[in-house]
Amino acid sequence: MCWDLLYGIEPCQAAVCDNKPDAAVREFFDILGDFDLLRRYEKTLHVGCGYGRVEKCFSKYANICFGVDVSSRAIRLAKEYVGHDKCVFLRNDGETLKVLGNNKFDLVYSVIVFQHMSKAVFKGYLREVKDYLKPRGMFFFQVPLSENGRKGDAVLIDRKDHHSIRRYSVEELEETLTAFGYRVDRMHTYGTDIYCLCSLGDG
Ligand SMILES: C[S@@+](CC[C@H](N)C(=O)[O-])C[C@H]1O[C@@H](n2cnc3c(N)ncnc32)[C@H](O)[C@@H]1O
Repeated sequence: MCWDLLYGIEPCQAAVCDNKPDAAVREFFDILGDFDLLRRYEKTLHVGCGYGRVEKCFSKYANICFGVDVSSRAIRLAKEYVGHDKCVFLRNDGETLKVLGNNKFDLVYSVIVFQHMSKAVFKGYLREVKDYLKPRGMFFFQVPLSENGRKGDAVLIDRKDHHSIRRYSVEELEETLTAFGYRVDRMHTYGTDIYCLCSLGDG
């Protein structure tokens, strides 16, 4: 999937012109509230920030909000759309967070992103995020729920949609996060998605 191409098409450009949070952003904020994550942070990071529609609203909760995305077009749009110096948008290589240098974060979050990458790349991000969390930092993300608990399914939504969506079962996520040394603090299912809050384990 070429995300740069997607960000070139008209509906996306149109969305960028609308300054109001859309339904998906409002829903995400409701869920952040449910998880008690609408707090003050020093530094936050969105993995797969797109054109910054979340940061447009979330930046008031942080001294500085970072966003990384594999699409250079998304990053350009985010800089234009959010356009203030509390937010830093950077293109990453689609697999690592090296572009963030020595920055460490109180909260790393990701929404509607991990479903679009292979499970191996997702695991790579799990490994990476650990290195960029402060010791008491939190990691909050969404992935689609596997309807039947099967592992490794990639489902095409319809013929025009070229995204393959990776779904996860609760057990699979718990196993994977634990294997990577995270402590799973809370996991909740909303409709067809799982939202997970985790932190660095003691070890
Ligand atoms: C559906 S959009 C969601 C954007 C944003 N999270 C939001 O909710 O507005 C998915 C985003 O994930 C980004 N993305 C896809 N694969 C990625 C990867 N491997 N690394 C970083 N970003 C990725 C895409 O460029 C795109 O901006």
